[in-house]
Amino acid sequence: MRILDNTVAWIDERFPLTKMLEEHVTKYYAPKNFNFWYYFGALSLLVLVIQLVTGIFLTMNYKPDGDLAFASVEYIMRDVNYGWLIRYMHSTGASMFFVVVYLHMFRALMYGSYKKPRELLWIFGMLIYVCLMAEAFMGYLLPWGQMSYWGAQVIISLFGAIPFGIGDALTLWLRGDYIVSDATLNRFFALHVIAVPLVLIMLVVAHILALHEVGSNNPDGIDIKKNKNAQGIPRDGIPFHPYYTVKDFMGAIVFLIVFFTIVFFMPEMGGYFLEHANFIPADPLKTPEHIAPVWYFTPFYAILRAVPSKLGGVIAMGSAILVLFFLPWIDRNGIRSIRYRSLAYKVLLFSFVIAFIILGYYGMQAPTPVGTFISRLCSLIYFGFFVGLFFVSRSEKTKPLPERVTS
Ligand code: HEM
Repeated sequence: MRILDNTVAWIDERFPLTKMLEEHVTKYYAPKNFNFWYYFGALSLLVLVIQLVTGIFLTMNYKPDGDLAFASVEYIMRDVNYGWLIRYMHSTGASMFFVVVYLHMFRALMYGSYKKPRELLWIFGMLIYVCLMAEAFMGYLLPWGQMSYWGAQVIISLFGAIPFGIGDALTLWLRGDYIVSDATLNRFFALHVIAVPLVLIMLVVAHILALHEVGSNNPDGIDIKKNKNAQGIPRDGIPFHPYYTVKDFMGAIVFLIVFFTIVFFMPEMGGYFLEHANFIPADPLKTPEHIAPVWYFTPFYAILRAVPSKLGGVIAMGSAILVLFFLPWIDRNGIRSIRYRSLAYKVLLFSFVIAFIILGYYGMQAPTPVGTFISRLCSLIYFGFFVGLFFVSRSEKTKPLPERVTS
């Protein structure tokens, strides 16, 4: 293929194409022991692309106007060619984004991937997570259904808890009106369609650059760069392409089978992905009986409700997210992987994950005395994880690390 070689050579003289491909793909040496948990980074990228592409097509027919928005979504569903497919891919993609990102984050917790030298990689990840939450929250207002409207009303009014008049001024500024209205819909549309996705893409690029600067961690949590051959290549490393491109391709196919099964057969997912109340147009005069955010926000919503005072709840909810940023400094143990850590650490992590899931469940339910009690308990376990980790990690009895990665 002389023509191809010549074209590449022509480009290479003007742009570092081959250099970049080698650095990030064909000569990026990743540890050879990646397991199931390492699928979710590539899958997050795949879902990001699905969301961007389907989002562009939705925007072609959606109308960001309080009087037209709901009907324009119905129009997309009924009249636009394959509009139903594009819309269900986008709504399913939103939930699946959080599924893969939560599993991706859990992997980082298990294998200590946030520890030195990957602190900045973790922080970029956390910024992505916060952006993703903002993106999902603003996107949810756009169909202008009852839950879109009242969900936004509840969440924006939380800022009103900030004292000294700042809260009231802030909520007014965010909404652009005294209630959630057309002005709010317009600005959320602008932010959802251009501003936040732009930031998200830049953060993902920074995330991957940071990863490739320090190299991937692995399920053993040992540094493969410490053991190199005569050519300077890590003995336990394999080129990302073709080995992991093939592996990730397989993961993507399995993921897409699950994804399209949901899109075609259960796009509402029993009200978890698309809530029932959102099939009713927004009505500022009629509050739905029970307002709950979509499942991926409910652990934090449960923490918010677990605290009796509104301001206290808002602070607790904010801290629950903020504290994750500091994980690299809260966990003071040098051993990364859960495989070589103490029983105390395993119990802490296990309780944290269970508490997070239970909080997610109670965040979806209407408040009851038992639910509130359990949410309070689980909120304590949630924060207790970080406090416990700070102390346990200092003097933990760990197992000896292997010299080379295990299979
Ligand atoms: C749009 C969302 C995201 C995308 C596209 C993304 C992409 C990736 C990719 C492609 C990798 C390398 C493959 C892998 O390790 O699975 C990776 C690694 C990593 N990501 Fe993400 N990520 C996202 C969100 C996050 C979030 C929210 C966090 C944590 C707060 C995070 C933390 C990490 C860490 C710590 C690693 C290194 C893992 C290791 O080497 O063991 N990422 N990410």
